[in-house]
Amino acid sequence: MKKANPATQAHHVSGGAALISILLLLMTSSPCIAAMSITDFLNEFTKNYYQQRFLAQTNLVKENKELVPRAVSKLIEESRTGNKVFEERMYLLNIASAMAYMQRHLHDDNGPLMEVEPIIKRELEQERKKNAELMKWKKEEQFLGNFVMKRHEKELEKANLAPVLYPHWKHRILFECKVCHNAIFRMQRWVNKISQEKIAAGKQCGVCHNGKMAFSAQDEKSCNRCHIAGKPEAARLHDPDLIDHAEIKRVAEKIGAEWHPENLVNGRLPVDRFGLIDWLKMKRDKVFVPLVSLDKNFKERTRDNKILFVSKSDFVDNVLFSHKVHSDWIDCSTCHPAFFVDKLGGNDIRMRDMSRGRFCGHCHGRVSFKFADCKRCHSQAKDAKVDALVRLSAH
Ligand code: HEC
Ligand code: HEC
Ligand code: HEC
Ligand code: HEC
Ligand code: HEC
Ligand code: HEC
Repeated sequence: MKKANPATQAHHVSGGAALISILLLLMTSSPCIAAMSITDFLNEFTKNYYQQRFLAQTNLVKENKELVPRAVSKLIEESRTGNKVFEERMYLLNIASAMAYMQRHLHDDNGPLMEVEPIIKRELEQERKKNAELMKWKKEEQFLGNFVMKRHEKELEKANLAPVLYPHWKHRILFECKVCHNAIFRMQRWVNKISQEKIAAGKQCGVCHNGKMAFSAQDEKSCNRCHIAGKPEAARLHDPDLIDHAEIKRVAEKIGAEWHPENLVNGRLPVDRFGLIDWLKMKRDKVFVPLVSLDKNFKERTRDNKILFVSKSDFVDNVLFSHKVHSDWIDCSTCHPAFFVDKLGGNDIRMRDMSRGRFCGHCHGRVSFKFADCKRCHSQAKDAKVDALVRLSAH
């Protein structure tokens, strides 16, 4: 008895659903002609393939030499019709490959294999590239608050421009969140539908990137400062140690903000134990004074109290939330009412929802420090006395 060829097992993709749809398709195609029609042959072979009955597969090919080339072509054709996902395509191609290997082995006919193997190779290569592409953009966003923008992927490709990398941290040095949220951008990805046309009209990024406050988005020499995602030159947007203090100081002075690198230890931005920039320490050490608004008549509103979230869970300490810290940076209207009802105990806040980007999770884990830093929020022992509004858990 001949063993099944390695390809049969090598990229076997389980596909019960795919099998059923193939069987249905094949059963309704061409009518019976000879002793065994191509439809019957395909159905039998597919069934045996699915049940891993290798001897039965071999016998079928042994007895139907003249059907195999057409059967292989039919499977390839079927893999290309409809909007099949990779797994479905590979399922069909692997059946074709198993058949083609047996044809070569039993009948010394290399034709079907020559047809199907390059197609499988191409499929696997494309899938590898696609995965690498996905990983590449994930990598570009590894540094907290760095967002890749590529809504206009096709146009960008056509113009031979990389997607945009928007670095929150470089802007946080110069601007409080209030400057942009919600005056220029709503605090949610993609919803602002950012485009070059709006930027060129002085909106969105173009409010500042106009050649006065910051480099112009219409200057041919500056395109690649934003359209930089995935390029080696983007390194300086991923690594605060590569910061150019003289340059930041020059820009800060120009726009009315302040940058005092002399207050940093060894000129390095302080980081927490997760390697994220410690903005509160930088503030305490008077390293920076960002702009509060671009509007001279802007009246800043802050709320100077703390809220103690008494957790019902015995396993975690209570959470202390500072309205002051948050409202210094963030406008009331960003959080109320979109993220929280402004009523003590008015929100049923749970970790599960937060990890999906609700409540505190709108910012924490995306632009501000991550949930892995439990103690930074769950900072108050159950019996600790704190000067704060006490909020009993809603659940
Ligand atoms: C210079 C402008 C600017 C500043 C300053 C700024 N942001 Fe943003 N922010 C943006 C842009 C642009 C987006 C993306 C909008 C889009 O894709 O439509 C964004 C999106 C966000 C999002 C949405 C994330 C998501 O996954 O949906 C959050 C949260 C956020 N910013 C928080 C902050 C916080 C907190 C601060 C201050 C510490 C801040 N931002 C300062 C420009 C800014
Ligand atoms: C509130 C004003 C403001 C807005 C809005 C703004 N920026 Fe900036 N941005 C600046 C300033 C100021 C700098 C520092 C300028 C400099 O180095 O010349 C800067 C720097 C940058 C840098 C760093 C470039 C480098 O080489 O280090 C990138 C990238 C960038 N902005 C992209 C964007 C994008 C993309 C948007 C819109 C989604 C945007 N910015 C919106 C003001 C702004
Ligand atoms: C301040 C940052 C910035 C600069 C500088 C900049 N762009 Fe863009 N550009 C963007 C952003 C943000 C988008 C939207 C990206 C997305 O999500 O598709 C964009 C999109 C585009 C698009 C896609 C089509 C469209 O309508 O959005 C083209 C083409 C483009 N830019 C060309 C240019 C050229 C050419 C230059 C230089 C003359 C340039 N950009 C400079 C930020 C910038
Ligand atoms: C980062 C988000 C955030 C910002 C910014 C913010 N708040 Fe709140 N606010 C909260 C949270 C969280 C609660 C508690 C809700 C609960 O108990 O369910 C709250 C509660 C409140 C309450 C009821 C408790 C109290 O403090 O009396 C009021 C009133 C309120 N906020 C007003 C404001 C005002 C005014 C501003 C701007 C000066 C502001 N908030 C800024 C998140 C925010
Ligand atoms: C709109 C964005 C936003 C939301 C929503 C938000 N935070 Fe924050 N939070 C920030 C920013 C910005 C900082 C400043 C520090 C930083 O970015 O690393 C901060 C800082 C903190 C700190 C450190 C303050 C200190 O005194 O050390 C704690 C604790 C905290 N947040 C807890 C919470 C909790 C709890 C919630 C939900 C009830 C929440 N935050 C919701 C943006 C947000
Ligand atoms: C950004 C602030 C923040 C961080 C970081 C954070 N939590 Fe929470 N957590 C909260 C808030 C706010 C609540 C709601 C308190 C309440 O109303 O009971 C909460 C509630 C909880 C609860 C109660 C049950 C539930 O699911 O809501 C548990 C358990 C908990 N957190 C565990 C953790 C653990 C473990 C970590 C670290 C991996 C963590 N938290 C990190 C803010 C935070």
